[in-house]
Amino acid sequence: MQKLVLGIESSCDESAVALVVTSDSTPPTVLAEEISSQAALHELYGGVVPELASREHLQALPLLLETVLTRAGIKLDDIDGVGVTQGPGLVGCLLVGMNFARGICSPRGIPLYGVHHIEGHVLAPLLEADALTFPYLALVVSGGHTEIHLVHELGSYQLLSRTMDDAAGEAFDKAANLLGLGYPGGAKLAALADAEVGEPLYRLPAPVPGQATFSFSGLKTAISLLIQQQGGLVEARRGALAHAIQSAIVSSLTDKLQLAVRNNSVETIVVTGGVSANHALRRRVNELFPKHRVVFPPLHHCTDNAAMIALCAGMRLVRNIPPALGEPCSRWPLELLKLRTVMHG
Ligand code: KG4
Ligand code: ZN
Repeated sequence: MQKLVLGIESSCDESAVALVVTSDSTPPTVLAEEISSQAALHELYGGVVPELASREHLQALPLLLETVLTRAGIKLDDIDGVGVTQGPGLVGCLLVGMNFARGICSPRGIPLYGVHHIEGHVLAPLLEADALTFPYLALVVSGGHTEIHLVHELGSYQLLSRTMDDAAGEAFDKAANLLGLGYPGGAKLAALADAEVGEPLYRLPAPVPGQATFSFSGLKTAISLLIQQQGGLVEARRGALAHAIQSAIVSSLTDKLQLAVRNNSVETIVVTGGVSANHALRRRVNELFPKHRVVFPPLHHCTDNAAMIALCAGMRLVRNIPPALGEPCSRWPLELLKLRTVMHG
């Protein structure tokens, strides 16, 4: 059985639409996908401004839909199902996407699935041809999330690690801001760090061994103190600082990942989310787990996208799991997905 599914993503500062074919016997196929990033707009304010983000989604989604339909040569009436991000995310932004999806589905009687954004990230590797088999470990590292899940099967996720404060991407961005690199400065900080060699010159807070929880808030204070001790930001020391910051974040991420791998027998480790673009993180994960299959989905499926949202809906549609759409959720732990689906079902 094959189903043609439309995915809609608008949980933060990226509007995205995708058309994906899912099947109960063959890997999914992405027919077309489009994304419109608002990064340049929010950069002016040093962070995402929720009201502006909602307004941008409202303008972008209809255009993205039209482009995707034209590119795939598909009419709305041909669609078997729609998946839309229901959370976690900015409520106003989620509402825009959800109402847009309702407008498509209601008049046509198309099933509409409310999708969990993090489920999208952990299942995104299944979009590629050499798909994985369950179970696998997924480290999700983005600007808003840092968590490790044991992915048992569709809809069944066991949380192994989560951050108690900032996300890894947020830590990169805050540190980059202290180094005067603008927002979001994670990639710029990484580029500076990659130009340095050898052990970092500065010591920054290290992860507590044996503890599953991530914590990045101490890092910002430590960096501020270091800069203060130097009498302000010294251009010549920026690279060395970036190197120390990147090393500290990467070792925190890999430390908790090692713990998760030690305690769970899996063959495959997936690293996804915007921070998975980081070269030092990729290198370290590959070094640490030579006996595992380490998968980094292609970057456009690591960062926010709508193909992963269509996939979550499509996998349910081909399994005859009934659609459910609840209220938009700003916070929604992935491990509660089953419960929530039942509550709203
Ligand atoms: O998943 P993502 O694209 O979007 C959201 O979280 O919404 O992740 C963006 C995050 C930002 O914090 C950005 O600074 C970070 O990923 N990032 C990086 C790199 N590229 C993007 N952090 C470290 N190294 C990179 N190369
Ligand atoms: Zn995301």
